[in-house]
Amino acid sequence: MEVIHTVAALRSRLADEHQVALVPTMGNLHDGHIDLIRIAKPRAACLVASIFVNRLQFGPGEDFDRYPRTLASDCERLAQAGCNIVFAPDEQEVYPEPQEFTIDPSHIQNELEGAFRPGHFRGVATVVLKLFNMVQPQIAIFGKKDYQQYLVLKEMVKQLALPIEIIPAETVRAPDGLALSSRNNYLSPEERLEAVSLYQQLEKIRNAALAGRRDFSALESEATYWLNAQGWKADYIAIRQAADLRKTDVSSRKLVILGAARLGKTRLIDNVEVDLS
Ligand code: PAJ
Repeated sequence: MEVIHTVAALRSRLADEHQVALVPTMGNLHDGHIDLIRIAKPRAACLVASIFVNRLQFGPGEDFDRYPRTLASDCERLAQAGCNIVFAPDEQEVYPEPQEFTIDPSHIQNELEGAFRPGHFRGVATVVLKLFNMVQPQIAIFGKKDYQQYLVLKEMVKQLALPIEIIPAETVRAPDGLALSSRNNYLSPEERLEAVSLYQQLEKIRNAALAGRRDFSALESEATYWLNAQGWKADYIAIRQAADLRKTDVSSRKLVILGAARLGKTRLIDNVEVDLS
């Protein structure tokens, strides 16, 4: 496996590659990230993982500075998983001058995560488009753990006619159900035990919907109330249409239940899909 830090070296290494898969990450890799590598591996002759903590997608006061940076151990894991190239540019390489051209996703960017993290999806879409231009992959893999991010990027590729196939990956969870996330590292041992409650509340809504309940706003409020009573600070619990995250109506069948909540200093997000047809 090669570790490449500059766009120029990357371009010359990839010049003769025709089947390239890209797995973009911010590093501090866990089994969820490695699962994306496993999915990508059989689909491409050359598998590139990028590691770049993208300042543009972090708001003021968010965890950009303390985001864990673990390049050496990340590279070991990627090599073991069969990755061919790690692209780990520094900030100067990705943003040699202030990024004035940016990508503004559609209405979706102001909803849910976007409402609580203004500018977040602009930062994500902009860096992912740049990574696409640097790597020029034929396919790219994104996790449904970040469901809204996956939809934003799928829509970007479609609306900008990028010749890239976006492949979604299911959320990888710890044995108790907590979705794996680099931010789980911030949790104290007590918080780690409590952290699974977010997923459990989403599952509770899912099971209630499957059992026939359609009073969605009551289900959202109950879960929010319960989390807050357990010491969380819920940003949102929302039942939306899986295809576009628009609000549901009586005919909606394929849904996604999304949640974001703070436990102490750590903000966690998760989601579960449910098909009522
Ligand atoms: P990061 O949080 O490092 O995640 C990289 C990829 O791994 C994303 O596609 C994310 O959805 C996926 N992922 C994270 N946890 C997962 C889990 N438990 N199961 C399955 N997949 C999981 O998402 C980003 O980085 C950035 O926003 C990025 C797209 C790299 C742009 O900067």
